[in-house]
Amino acid sequence: MKNYLKHDEWCIIEEGFNREFNEITESVCSLGNGRMGQRGNFEETFTGKTLQGNYVAGVYYPDKTRVGWWKNGYPEYFAKVLNAANWIGIKVEIEEEILDLHKAEVSDFKRVLNMKEGYLQRTFTATLPSGKQVKVDAKRFNSIVDDEAGAISYSITPLNFDGKIVLTPFIDGDIKNKDANYDEKFWDEVHKETAFAEGYVEMVTKKTGFHVVTGQKFQIFQNGKAIEFTSFPQKAEKYVASQVTLSAKANEATVLVKYACNLSSENHAISELLPKAKAYLARIEAKGFDKMLEEQAEKWASKWETNDIVIEGDVAAQQGIRFNIFQMNQTYTGEDARLNIGPKGFTGEKYGGSTYWDTEAYCIPFYLATADQQVARNLLVYRWKQLGKAIENAQKLGFKDGAALYPMVTMNGEECHNEWEITFEEIHRNGAIAYAIYDYVNYTGDEAYLAEYGFEVLLGIARFWSQRVNWSEAKKQYVMLGVTGPNEYENNVNNNWYTSYFAVWCMKYLIEVSEKIKASNPERFQELASLTNLNETDEFDRFNHIIRNMYLGEDKELGIFLQQDGFLDKELIKVSNLPTQERPINQKWSWDRILRSCFIKQADVLQGIYFFEDDFDAETIKRNYDFYEPMTVHESSLSPCVHSIIAAKLGDKARSYEFYQRSARLDLDDYNNDTEDGCHITSMAGTWMSIVKGFGGMRVRNGQVYLAPFVPENWTSFSFKIRFKGNLLNIKTYAHEVLIENILGDDTTIFVHGNTVELKEKSTVSIEQKLLN
Ligand code: BGC
Repeated sequence: MKNYLKHDEWCIIEEGFNREFNEITESVCSLGNGRMGQRGNFEETFTGKTLQGNYVAGVYYPDKTRVGWWKNGYPEYFAKVLNAANWIGIKVEIEEEILDLHKAEVSDFKRVLNMKEGYLQRTFTATLPSGKQVKVDAKRFNSIVDDEAGAISYSITPLNFDGKIVLTPFIDGDIKNKDANYDEKFWDEVHKETAFAEGYVEMVTKKTGFHVVTGQKFQIFQNGKAIEFTSFPQKAEKYVASQVTLSAKANEATVLVKYACNLSSENHAISELLPKAKAYLARIEAKGFDKMLEEQAEKWASKWETNDIVIEGDVAAQQGIRFNIFQMNQTYTGEDARLNIGPKGFTGEKYGGSTYWDTEAYCIPFYLATADQQVARNLLVYRWKQLGKAIENAQKLGFKDGAALYPMVTMNGEECHNEWEITFEEIHRNGAIAYAIYDYVNYTGDEAYLAEYGFEVLLGIARFWSQRVNWSEAKKQYVMLGVTGPNEYENNVNNNWYTSYFAVWCMKYLIEVSEKIKASNPERFQELASLTNLNETDEFDRFNHIIRNMYLGEDKELGIFLQQDGFLDKELIKVSNLPTQERPINQKWSWDRILRSCFIKQADVLQGIYFFEDDFDAETIKRNYDFYEPMTVHESSLSPCVHSIIAAKLGDKARSYEFYQRSARLDLDDYNNDTEDGCHITSMAGTWMSIVKGFGGMRVRNGQVYLAPFVPENWTSFSFKIRFKGNLLNIKTYAHEVLIENILGDDTTIFVHGNTVELKEKSTVSIEQKLLN
């Protein structure tokens, strides 16, 4: 755990240059606008520890699979988010010396990620080996208004000399993914050109053929005024630059304002990329840096209006939650149904692919409550569009008749994960995808979605489950063999309770949805039945038979659900008995030892209880929580938030807060020692859930909002906003009072601690807080 970033309510602040942590700070200071993003790299040359990272949404490369031992059914490719052209580069030479913070003496260094207005600023004084001193103030952002562009204002002031400064802004497309399987480069050059203070590189990805034009255009200011200058073009492979030599005076700032854009063939015809990039840059240059930044701040302000969580009395927690919300918004805006949320977003390469079950299980609830319902809908439609591929994927593994197995990791619908115990066995992902449909419809009331898209996905998934189970003569029940539950520290287990429970639920839900569509729109049902070759009688009979006869492991004496058949044979030890030096076990223990141990990587039975809590009484939840929690090592960032929500439900405020803390500042404090690879974007939605569903106790049942809020002990108050069917509500909780403001929308009714609360339009209701012990 590290503690070098300053606590502040709205900013992430690094004071003094922490070279050894630079890659961590780069991850944390990543910028994004849903269409493109990049790590918090330096604009000028840096030869120290750094991971240069620029990403363009939706642009990927299928890297040939590399495994030690090939297994039939493995996908041939692993689609990777591509590290793309570096557009932030500005080479700075001072009288022939290159400005490089790795070689210079650095003082007054400050790097600030301003989350309120959405920009990154870096200020420092550098003393070069020659003794020359310069002061730099660099500010940049990825515009959320002009979302294919970014802008940089780079100000450099000589402090102890008058002399020559050479500035060379460039676009460098000669980039390699750090995680390339065969050390190959994934981009080819198509075209490059330069003009005065302007340059473009057009590149194409190998195999996938995505074209991206990255362009730059810049202006230079001295004494606050744009100056005339001469720029010398430079070209190299996949590289364009314009070199400008300037004379600078001591204590007078020279400011280079660079505008850049990334236009991709995902959004434009290939033939139009270059002319459009030129027009784009001309337009934003005319708008100007200050105006763009002003618009950026305004748009962020409107996002915070509906997204913000305010915590009084704990600055570290406030910073933590805002950081999570900020990164979620930078990663996915929901405007484009082809995009999704990668576990690292635009902050690093790890995990390749872009879509995991994380999206449905963790991110959808966040977007449902904080964004227009179209955003969550787009995420669902994304899976609907990939249904054909999910059916092919299942066919490849021997399933038939429209059974669909969604991939564990994907870019375009094809599986790109290749560890047999996950690719073939971690099939619970299908459950989360079905659940997200339920979640969306339950939250928004948009039942039309079911007939339009939902049914087909639910049917494909139900068909898969019905074929994946088998009848056990011994048990006289259906069983599900050879699976990996969410707890990846057990593989190839039989009857993982979570997966089996989910399978049954999916079939039940499909039948319920079918009945609804039949009743409301029988013609559409007929259409869907013929589209999907549904043999309703036979197929539904089988689903119902499985629903009635599925084996779900339970230990009656302990009163718990069994994570899997053999769980109780394990030596049951508590995590508290594990020596600290042996943790995290995934870095310290051999894999077989982990598999045989009782230690649970992430919520498994408890993940199921989280999804289906209304199916169980409080005692059952408590018994399972008391049994499994002490064996959970939380070595997945997705885990603590689920435990936080369950602890809150059980009234264990202190534990709930403890779990929340583990996820809220996970990246800011580099809790798991891995932030340098990128931030844990999808688990950030989980942090949000632990506040809203945990401390806020928010649930949606039968189309209505239920709250059961409490304040963690060391906070004075906290408040969160939710959008719910045309209303925007602000819920502010103190120890003794809850204030609920109906900011937008008509009169509505909600439930707080089980009591009905009428909320008049634009008014605030105060409720005496039930004190939890
Ligand atoms: C977790 C998975 C998760 C993946 C990506 C893994 O460590 O075990 O549940 O989908 O990370 O976040």
